[in-house]
Amino acid sequence: MDVLSATVCVLCAFAANDARDSNERRAFTREAMNLIDGKAIAAKINTESRAAVAELKAAGHTPGLAVVLVGENPASQAYVRNKDRTCQELGMHSVKHELPATTTQTELIALVQRLNADPAIHAILVQSPPPAHIDERAVVEAIDPRKDVDGFHPVNVGKLALGDTDGFVPCTPLGCQRLLVEAGVETRGANVVVLGRSMIVGKPMALLLMNKGAGGDATVTVAHSRTRDLEAVCREADILIAAIGQPEFVKASFVKEGAVVIDVGINRVAAPEKPSGAKLVGDVAFSEVAPRCRAITPVPGGVGPMTIAMLMANTIASCRRWAAQT
Ligand code: GUN
Repeated sequence: MDVLSATVCVLCAFAANDARDSNERRAFTREAMNLIDGKAIAAKINTESRAAVAELKAAGHTPGLAVVLVGENPASQAYVRNKDRTCQELGMHSVKHELPATTTQTELIALVQRLNADPAIHAILVQSPPPAHIDERAVVEAIDPRKDVDGFHPVNVGKLALGDTDGFVPCTPLGCQRLLVEAGVETRGANVVVLGRSMIVGKPMALLLMNKGAGGDATVTVAHSRTRDLEAVCREADILIAAIGQPEFVKASFVKEGAVVIDVGINRVAAPEKPSGAKLVGDVAFSEVAPRCRAITPVPGGVGPMTIAMLMANTIASCRRWAAQT
């Protein structure tokens, strides 16, 4: 039996006094090695989002998301398709701009400015990474921060650093935090190691975890490729968040017995045994790490669905804010 099928038997993962809590946790953590089921948690959030969209529409406001993709990166094309499909499933207005790789920076910024001015659009996402000739920072800075549901604009980065909840928080770290909260993993006072220092995941993740409140109040270490004795640093973690972008980088020797591991990686690797010849793996060597963990997210089905669910939630929040001003 492989590792994933061993988790099919569903039992409560964490002792809980409250029956409702216990039922919810049973739904989201599958026993054996306590798999945190991102797909189930994302489905719950999407159900809430569908209801929120219906309410907004009844009041005359349809949340609108514009996704812009430049070039033909197959992984990015798949993400963009997924975002568009989820938007439609939730009853939101979705606009997809797929531009050729030859698109100039001026053309791209002109499109962003048109979307900034479009009252049917409350959220703008330019898929990263763009082709090399595009200055991504200039494009992000052209987005109206009030429509920047990615949370990449300096205004939103600043708000997150300040602990100001008015801004937008990047969807992947927001999804990781929500996974921890929904799975009943206490972050307050926990030693958390964030492995990776990107603007999309590592840095905002660290800020979220050190901010005050639920899913925060942690003692955070940010480790990366230049960290001395990386393995020993990771082994100190009660919660390890792997976002280093290297397939199966985190081995069992990086993980303290009983730690919670959140795997942000989505890496396509060769798999001659599969009909497609490829498979997705995370940044964590799942089969050797999982038996040591109190809880772990799988890839696929962990952080990935949460990123999209949080994008939808951010788009709805943006629509609400715009509606409140009109
Ligand atoms: N590429 C990978 N993740 C993301 C994301 O969250 N937002 C954008 N815009 N691009 C990405």
